[in-house]
Amino acid sequence: MRYWSTPPWTSLTQAHDWLERAWQGAQTGQSYSWVISSREAPDTLLGTCALFAIQPGCRRAEVGYGLARPHWGHGYATEAMQAVVTHAFGAMDLRRLEADIDPDNHASQRVLERLGFVEEGYLRERWEVDGIVSDSRLFGLLRREWRAGSQPT
Ligand SMILES: CC(C)(COP(=O)(O)OP(=O)(O)OC[C@H]1O[C@@H](n2cnc3c(N)ncnc32)[C@H](O)[C@@H]1OP(=O)(O)O)[C@@H](O)C(=O)NCCC(=O)NCCS
Repeated sequence: MRYWSTPPWTSLTQAHDWLERAWQGAQTGQSYSWVISSREAPDTLLGTCALFAIQPGCRRAEVGYGLARPHWGHGYATEAMQAVVTHAFGAMDLRRLEADIDPDNHASQRVLERLGFVEEGYLRERWEVDGIVSDSRLFGLLRREWRAGSQPT
């Protein structure tokens, strides 16, 4: 949770609220959240990934992802996000995806680079979570770049 946009949850109600927001987002088309699981253990939650801040008029959205700690380092986030990006640029017909990460979140940066995202900017003191102020590195990926062969191998 060190680089997340909210503090860790402390009650089950917060999980229920998240589920409700995820459901509402999908109903309104403002955001889509998916769970990540493995073929070997399809009922085990490894993490989540999402498209949010969807702007259909501008055909853009933000991406987000997170895994439970035991599942870090296996390439799962990249694999899951490859499916999300394919869906975003395919069925959803988006043109641009954005990501906002903590400058110290090197694992997340590697995921984005593997997907073909490029760094586009740096915003100072953009976040304040639990009293900790942090900067943002902004990344972007265009559909024409994805089509040009930026997919991870
Ligand atoms: C960011 C995150 C989703 C990466 O997912 P992942 O499936 O572990 O990513 P990968 O297995 O592809 O690893 C990506 C890179 O991070 C490195 N890495 C993975 N886990 C790491 C760890 N615990 N510490 C340091 N580096 C780590 C990997 O070695 C890899 O680097 P490489 O490409 O140079 O080999 C995962 O670390 C996570 O859930 N973190 C907490 C939530 C979070 O920060 N989400 C993103 C918010 S923007």
